[in-house]
Amino acid sequence: MSDHQTEVRDFRDLFVAELEGVYDMELKLVDALEEMSGAATNDNLSKGFAIHRTETETQVEHVEAAFDALGREPTRRDNRIVDGLLAERERFDAGVSDDAVLNTYYLTAAIATERFEITSYEGLLVTAEQANLGADVTEPLERNLEQEAKTLRKLQALVEGTDGRTLWDRLPGSKRS
Ligand SMILES: [Fe+2]
Repeated sequence: MSDHQTEVRDFRDLFVAELEGVYDMELKLVDALEEMSGAATNDNLSKGFAIHRTETETQVEHVEAAFDALGREPTRRDNRIVDGLLAERERFDAGVSDDAVLNTYYLTAAIATERFEITSYEGLLVTAEQANLGADVTEPLERNLEQEAKTLRKLQALVEGTDGRTLWDRLPGSKRS
C-alpha cells in the first residue's frame, strides 16, 4: 500500500483505485464487526453485527470477483475514511461505562459506516459506467450495494422500532424504560 499520489489517467484507472479502496474497506470491516459483536451488550445489536460480519466476508469475495473480471490481482489501497471511522469508534470503546450509551453509540456508528459503504459502491458503479466496464465487473458490486442498503434499513429499524417501541425502551440500562 503506497502513501504516494495515485496515478489516474482515465476512468478505468479511477475505477481500479476506487475498487482497491473498497477492498481495503471491506477487509477492515470484517475485523471491526467481529470486535463490535463481542463488545455490544445488546443482544439484537450483537447478533446483527455477527450476521453482517458473515455478509461482509461474502462482500469481500464479490469485490475479488470484480478484480478477477478485470484480470487483476485483488489489491488493497489504504482507505483513510474507514480508518477515521474506526479510530473514532475506538476512542469510545474503553471510555463508555453505561451499556445503553455504548450500544447506542455503536448503532449510530454502524449507520454512519453503512452510509459510507453505500456511497462508495454508488461511486464505483458511476465510474464503471464511464469506463464502459461489463456486467461481469459491475454485477458483484451491485449485489454488495443491495446488501448494504438492506443492512442500513435493518439498523434504522432498530432505531425506529418497528413495533412502536423506540431503541431507548429496548436497550439495557435505559432510564426511560
Ligand atoms: Fe460491507
